[in-house]
Amino acid sequence: MTSTRDDGSARSGPDQDGPRQDGARFEGAQGEGPPLAAEGTHPPRVSGDELERMTQPQLARLAAELDDVDVVHNQDPWPVPGTRAERRAAQSVVLWFLISALSALAFLLAFLFWPYEYVAPGTPGYATYAAYTPIVGGMLGLSITALGIGVIAYVKKFFPDEVSVQQRHDGPSEEIARRTVVAQVVQAGKETGFGRRKMIVGSAGLAAGVLGVGVGVAAVAPFVRDPWKGGDEAALWVTPWRSVNGETVYLRYDTGDPEEVALVRPEDQEPGSMMTVFPFREADRGNEEALIHGLRASDAPVMLIRLRPGTPTVWQPGRDLHYGDYIAYSKICTHLGCPTSLYESQTDRILCPCHQSQFIATEYGRPVFGPAARPLPLLPITVNEEGYFVATGDFDAPVGPSFWEMGSV
Ligand code: FES
Repeated sequence: MTSTRDDGSARSGPDQDGPRQDGARFEGAQGEGPPLAAEGTHPPRVSGDELERMTQPQLARLAAELDDVDVVHNQDPWPVPGTRAERRAAQSVVLWFLISALSALAFLLAFLFWPYEYVAPGTPGYATYAAYTPIVGGMLGLSITALGIGVIAYVKKFFPDEVSVQQRHDGPSEEIARRTVVAQVVQAGKETGFGRRKMIVGSAGLAAGVLGVGVGVAAVAPFVRDPWKGGDEAALWVTPWRSVNGETVYLRYDTGDPEEVALVRPEDQEPGSMMTVFPFREADRGNEEALIHGLRASDAPVMLIRLRPGTPTVWQPGRDLHYGDYIAYSKICTHLGCPTSLYESQTDRILCPCHQSQFIATEYGRPVFGPAARPLPLLPITVNEEGYFVATGDFDAPVGPSFWEMGSV
C-alpha cells in the first residue's frame, strides 16, 4: 500500500512488502557492525542472534525504522570537536550547574543551622530570624531554577539540529521496538557528546546530587525529633498554662506592652462577647523574656467567651471547666492550626476563617461543620478570691492540629 504524506510525496506504508526509500537516513550508523537482516522490509525482520550482534548505532537506527521515523534534517552543532566556541558553550552550561550546586548547598546549610526560633520584632536577633524563610526558600528556588536552565542550555547548545517526521500507528509498540528504544536513547546521548563532556557531566551530577541531599534532609528532618519524648511532660502536652510549683496562672490580655500586665475580671467582658487572653505568673513580672514568651507562644492564645445570660448549654455534671457564663477555649484550630478568632454570639459558634470549621461554644467546642474533627481544647478556669480569672490546670486536650495525636491516644 502507498500512502500520501502531508507534503504530497508518496511513501511506503507499514503493510507494504516493497523496499523502503528511507534506508540511508542515519549516515553515522551506516557501515558499523553487521548489516541489518532483511533490510529494506518494514517492519524490519531481525532474528534474536542478529539483534545480539548489532552495534549501538545499528540498534538506534533500527529503533527509528521501527518507529517509522523520517529524519529530514540532522546536523551536528559542533562538527569539529574541541573548538574554542564549543568550550565556551560547555563552560556556560557548567556555570549554571555550579550555581545550582552552590545554592543547594546554601539551602542545606541554612536549613540545618540558621536560627529559626521565634524572635519578637524590635528585639535583638529579629532580623536574622525573619530572614530564615526567605533564605531557605530563595536558595532552594535558585538551585532548582539554575539546574533547569543548565539542562535547557545543554539541550540547545549540544543537541543536533534535527527535523524528524513520524507516522502514527495504532496500538502498543512491538517487543523489538521496546528493546531498541533504550539503544536509541543511548545513541542520542552519544551524538550530543555527553559522555566526553566531563565538566558538564560532573557539574550536572554535583548539582543534582547536592540538591537531592538537601531535599532529602528537609524531607527526613521532621522525623528525627520524637515529639512524644518526655511522656506526660512532652512539649506537645505542656503549654504555658501549666502551673509550675503550684503557682497561680492568671488570665491577662495584651495591651501591646509585655511589661504592662492587665489581669482579667468577669466584669471586664460584655455578655455575648469574646476576648483573647494569655497566661501570666507573678514570677514572670519584670522578666521581659518570660512575659514575651507568654504572649507569643503558639499554644498560649485562649478565647475567653462570655455567653449571653440564659443561653442553653450541655455542661456535664462533674466536668467543671467553665465559670458561670464564661468558658475558655484554645484559639488554635484543631484542623491545621489557624487562629479561630470569630465568635458568633447569636448561634454560639466559633468559626475558623481558614477552612470554615465551626465549633459549638456551649457544647465543649464540639466541631459541627468543616474539616476539623476534634473539639477545641478547653482551659479550665475559675475566679480567685481577689476577683481575677485564673486557670485551674492546663488544657484538657493537646492544642493544635489533630495529626499530633496519631498513635498516642
Ligand atoms: S485551620 Fe481551621 S478549618 Fe482549617
